[in-house]
Amino acid sequence: MILGQLSRGGAGVRVQRYLLPGSWQGVRGAAVAAGEPLVAGEPREPAVKTQIPGPETKRQYEALSKISPCQSVSVFVDYDKSIGNYQVDVDGNVLLDAFTQISSLPLGYSHPDLISAATSQQNVRTFINRPSLGVFPGADWTQRLKDSLMPLAPPGHTSLTTMACGACSNENAFKAIYIWYRSKERGSKDPTPEELQSAMVNQKPGCTDYALLGFNGSFHGRTMAPLALTHSKAIHKVDIPTLDFPMAPFPMYKYPLEDNVAENEKEDERCLARVEEIMHEYKNKGRPVVGVVIEPIQAEGGDNHGSNEFFQQLQAITKRNGAALLIDEVQTGGGPTGKFWCYEHFNLPESPDILTFSKKMLTGGFFCKEDFRVAQGYRIFNTWMGDPGKVILLQEVLNVIKRDNLLQNTVVSGDILYKGIRELENRFPNVINSTRGKDRGTFIAFNGKDAATRDAIIANMKQKGVQLGGCGDAAVRLRPALIFQPHHANILLDRLEQVLKEF
Ligand SMILES: Cc1ncc(COP(=O)(O)O)c(C=O)c1O
Repeated sequence: MILGQLSRGGAGVRVQRYLLPGSWQGVRGAAVAAGEPLVAGEPREPAVKTQIPGPETKRQYEALSKISPCQSVSVFVDYDKSIGNYQVDVDGNVLLDAFTQISSLPLGYSHPDLISAATSQQNVRTFINRPSLGVFPGADWTQRLKDSLMPLAPPGHTSLTTMACGACSNENAFKAIYIWYRSKERGSKDPTPEELQSAMVNQKPGCTDYALLGFNGSFHGRTMAPLALTHSKAIHKVDIPTLDFPMAPFPMYKYPLEDNVAENEKEDERCLARVEEIMHEYKNKGRPVVGVVIEPIQAEGGDNHGSNEFFQQLQAITKRNGAALLIDEVQTGGGPTGKFWCYEHFNLPESPDILTFSKKMLTGGFFCKEDFRVAQGYRIFNTWMGDPGKVILLQEVLNVIKRDNLLQNTVVSGDILYKGIRELENRFPNVINSTRGKDRGTFIAFNGKDAATRDAIIANMKQKGVQLGGCGDAAVRLRPALIFQPHHANILLDRLEQVLKEF
């Protein structure tokens, strides 16, 4: 099926570079194939009016900085005007958003189905009466979880805990691991009186010396325990006391993968050997590694991928050593890799023991196997433990994903993006390299020649109307919403070509 020209506008004519595969299906498949937006009312293309950041963002930045630290602010957004894949800033610049609030908008801006759910009279009391879910859940809470999150649980995961954000999902999932391990050791789920007394004064045996193993380049959040396992940016960690948790190397592959098979296999072996070594070292020190914590794709650290074999072997190592395997799907979960959970790509013999989520899932939380369910109340707990309003929205998101076949949309758009960027990499090898994310939906990244080049690519793309993100030392990452369609991919590629030509 040839799609032909897509649209005309100020920036000229864009041509679909790649064709949709024959397998394209879905209720709205025909409209999508014709380049119709899934979200009605979306602009046809970006429109940049000012230098970004523009004068109104600068004025608002001045005002905000007087009352709140805001060095990380990029632009102030006009959320009334932003729609679908397009973010509109307070200066009226219309950007195709391929970063979507650090990968956390499943359906882009102001999706009509979410607006209906949020404004329905039926839901309004859930939105305004935020409960302390661990103590006072609403009458419909169990059914809501059964209808929304539970069908997404990895096979063998019988327990779900909701939380507010990514870091607190990890923080609490780590606690579930310590509690699981200690219960196994003592042969009972109930702590002894001596353990309870010593825990009150931060002493053993009540407080344990257990270690969790993390990886170089990882990011798990900015609260204390996730930060101890985070090794991507020094500025996140400096000045903060930490836990003595070991760090193993994460595979750093050479790209293209197909040209570097033997070398990358060796890289897997090197990293896995070090994991096993650390486990033995810590066991000998009397500080067992009770859990291994890993992202399926290291995102903040630079979009570093591990092979399926790497993850399979890693799981085997955790099993051999009696440790839990926690997969942090905070950034990868909810469909951007073309499967609902990224770990599903790995063909693991069994599910990881714990899976944490947030971002595109709208609520944070974790799924775990039955053994990791904590026996006493208030141990894994906080005041809100999530928010039923977010679960109402998530239910709607899941309906739309299914109705509009958005995982398939992500696979198709991702394929166009990946092939297009590889082609650009071949044409501009001195500017970009290491395109990665093949068969991982739109979860795609490439490197600039160096950090300065990467930063310039992102800034110039923004000025041409496309918002991208940076990660790691020199990577540009794409994190569009699940409604990012083939015609959006072609706009992105078109602007990227223009930017690369200017180097
Ligand atoms: C893999 C991963 N884990 C945890 C977090 C922390 O999530 P939050 O920022 O919601 O605390 C992030 C955030 O980017 C992440 O990418």
